[in-house]
Amino acid sequence: MLAVQMRGITKRFGPLVANDHIDFELEQGEVHALLGENGAGKTTLMRILYGLYHADEGEIVVNGDPVHISSPKDAIAKRIGWFRSILPWFNRSP
Ligand SMILES: Nc1ncnc2c1ncn2[C@@H]1O[C@H](COP(=O)(O)OP(=O)(O)O)[C@@H](O)[C@H]1O
Ligand SMILES: [Mg+2]
Repeated sequence: MLAVQMRGITKRFGPLVANDHIDFELEQGEVHALLGENGAGKTTLMRILYGLYHADEGEIVVNGDPVHISSPKDAIAKRIGWFRSILPWFNRSP
């Protein structure tokens, strides 16, 4: 069974379409790399999965169940975690 499915995820910021009907599937134990140029919509998609943004269209299915992830608390309860690719403490002066 798929651990996570994102189906037809669309996210708009005003006229800008950040995610345009994105499908993503993850099986338990898999590691995926999400690649794309700056502004391609990678962070937006992961923010949706983590409950920081809400998709305008599409659905998320976790372990076969359609879910509504409204907050990071919801995501963590479904064992979905996220840490940012840019770690601010790397840039701190000693
Ligand atoms: N909160 C926001 N408000 C308005 N536009 C946003 C917001 N977040 C992202 N965007 C826009 O959505 C597009 C995708 O951004 P993003 O998901 O950060 O791309 P990536 O992570 O692939 O570089 C970009 O055009 C970006 O400017
Ligand atoms: Mg990004």
